[in-house]
Amino acid sequence: MRHLMSPLDFSVEELDKLMEMAEDIEANPEKYAHVCDGKKLATLFYEPSTRTRLSHEAAMLNLGGSVLGFSSADSSSASKGESVADTIRIISCYADICAMRHPKEGAALVACAHSSIPVINAGDGGHQHPTQTLTDLLTIHSLKGRLDNMTIGLCGDLKFGRTVHSLIHALVRYPNVKFVLISPEELKLPGYIRKDVLDRQNIEYREVVRLEDALPSLDILYMTRVQKERFFNEEDYVRMKDFYILDSKKMELAPKDMHVLHPLPRVNEISVEVDSDPRAAYFKQAQYGVYIRMALIITLLNIEV
Ligand code: CP
Repeated sequence: MRHLMSPLDFSVEELDKLMEMAEDIEANPEKYAHVCDGKKLATLFYEPSTRTRLSHEAAMLNLGGSVLGFSSADSSSASKGESVADTIRIISCYADICAMRHPKEGAALVACAHSSIPVINAGDGGHQHPTQTLTDLLTIHSLKGRLDNMTIGLCGDLKFGRTVHSLIHALVRYPNVKFVLISPEELKLPGYIRKDVLDRQNIEYREVVRLEDALPSLDILYMTRVQKERFFNEEDYVRMKDFYILDSKKMELAPKDMHVLHPLPRVNEISVEVDSDPRAAYFKQAQYGVYIRMALIITLLNIEV
């Protein structure tokens, strides 16, 4: 039995296969419409979500399966003190596979240690968000036709942004990927990722504060939201929240073939006027999230198509 805790759980060859299947799903959805008939997906969300929960559910429904679950800790027995370990033992009796989001780093790992069904980490605190990474990789691959030889700008909350952490882990495995880390001093990428991942593997990167300084050199700009829920005090959040606002004027500095990604939700960091720029890819990205999660469910359930 296989789980997905981190993007590194899949080799580059396995990721290639997963993306190939997702692209086939997009082209031939009818071929996959009944491959999960009779299977159930449980979504266990201890933290709010729109895309991750509903795209997992849409993915399972598109495959002919069904879904059950809860969308907040308050509406589950976690509110009475039930542990993640006990919860997953119970869910293993009700479903064939589950996706779990939890505010604590490592919670998904605890779940898979006590689970008899595949567990998908749908985000654990500020740690990892591997299915978002699969979505991001598929989006970049579909837009650019490659995952190597490119410069990726990561902008915003690089300290708490788990999507950024997961994406860096995944992209350093492709040749000649360079990063521009764009953040205020207070929200810089944690030292353990800079040293243990980027420095250790001799990955080229530079850190800048001004978005304008990075834009002309980028193939992909990955914007992120300042993570209000991870701040210890409101005052720091208010000071940081509008540090970056990507607008049409700044987009003039960007190459014509640069694409803008964002895991969403956005708050103010991308002005709505950018939505009509052909380089804005964040809504398409959310659609790719369904295809890749369909491919993931098929793979983790070991279903032959
Ligand atoms: N990208 C993402 O994780 O969005 P949600 O929080 O809405 O799931």
